[in-house]
Amino acid sequence: MTEARRDPEVVPAAEWADEVTEALAARIAAQPDLVLCLPTGSTPEPIYERLPDALDRLGVSMARVTVVLLDEYLGLPAGHRIRCDSQLRRQLIDRLDAPPAAFLSFDVDGGDPAAACVAFDAEIAAIGGLDLVILGLGMNGHIGMNEPGTPTDASTRVIELTPSTMEAARQYGADPPPKYGVTLGMAEILAAREVWLLATGERKAAILREVLEGPVTADVPGSLLRGHPGLRVIADDAAADSLAG
Ligand code: PGA
Repeated sequence: MTEARRDPEVVPAAEWADEVTEALAARIAAQPDLVLCLPTGSTPEPIYERLPDALDRLGVSMARVTVVLLDEYLGLPAGHRIRCDSQLRRQLIDRLDAPPAAFLSFDVDGGDPAAACVAFDAEIAAIGGLDLVILGLGMNGHIGMNEPGTPTDASTRVIELTPSTMEAARQYGADPPPKYGVTLGMAEILAAREVWLLATGERKAAILREVLEGPVTADVPGSLLRGHPGLRVIADDAAADSLAG
């Protein structure tokens, strides 16, 4: 694992969503059978809003793409609007002209979330692993629900959410917020062929600086990505504001 700093691509805030959307649409055009792991949350929302039109413009479809969900809350009923599977369906999948070839999510309604994690990893392995994982960045440095303290070999598993992640879920509209979740593991993220870490807004400036310029440490899970040879960091100028440059 190298400790080298990974320079972000910094885009003006007004252009950020358009640029990332174009980059993603071009990536899908180049590899129509992409195995694509997607996050939920506020960071990717403007990309999902734009992606169906961008694909249309390029004459590209996601009909052969396998979409893989990054993480999920436990304890929310199926269809709850804050559930990550519901969010991704509503924001992107249900808006595509052609549905993706498959949408892999966690079977969190079956009563055995640990078994659901094992099954999830097995499904990913069966289709040849992840080509591209897109990640937002938590205010505490988490990626997916890999909370501070996560080592590089942590696999897909059940997670006890930190107060900061619970508060974010409460603000999204789950009140009381869930206490547990399941997440694609750090090991599985690091095993993906390509990773895009997205960060927008002034509120991410301090943690993005820690991720890119602080020590590589399990205490800041995002920093562990710096050892990944296929990492792209795409930030807007507000999130990049505290970087040494
Ligand atoms: P956000 O969340 O995109 O809503 O800021 C990112 C995260 O907590 O992983």
